[in-house]
Amino acid sequence: MKKIGILNGPNLNLLGTREPEIYGSKTFEDFLAELKERFTQTDFLYYQSNVEGELINQLQEWATTQDAIVLNLGAYSHTSVALADAIKSLPVPVIEVHISNVYAREEYRHTSLSAAHCQGCIMGLGLEGYALAIQHLLHNHY
Ligand code: DQA
Repeated sequence: MKKIGILNGPNLNLLGTREPEIYGSKTFEDFLAELKERFTQTDFLYYQSNVEGELINQLQEWATTQDAIVLNLGAYSHTSVALADAIKSLPVPVIEVHISNVYAREEYRHTSLSAAHCQGCIMGLGLEGYALAIQHLLHNHY
């Protein structure tokens, strides 16, 4: 497995400056550069959008081009039936990541509509959660 799509949802374009006490002070672009150095045998595509439909379009496109997907839908994981449906229809493994431990936060963050349609979910381990998801996808064949 070589081609992995990383999809980030709303407000995750602000990583680095957005609530750094929760999400850290690294931008995702800097983190992505580190990922590419760590996983040299992997081809990464990265996409971020604040728009629900654009995230769905990207997932549908990646259904035929990527071997696996790591995603953080941000608040949409708690609210979007449409994105949950999109994940459900994907023929490739998907792992959901949350940078923060959503169970240690407000109650409305305790439900993920998307997680049930993913292979697994990693949360509360900071940006490293994306790396752990990738590591898993590279070492386990579905
Ligand atoms: C988040 C958690 C969500 O509740 C929140 O809306 C986000 C980020 C996380 O990575 O911890 O935008 O998905």
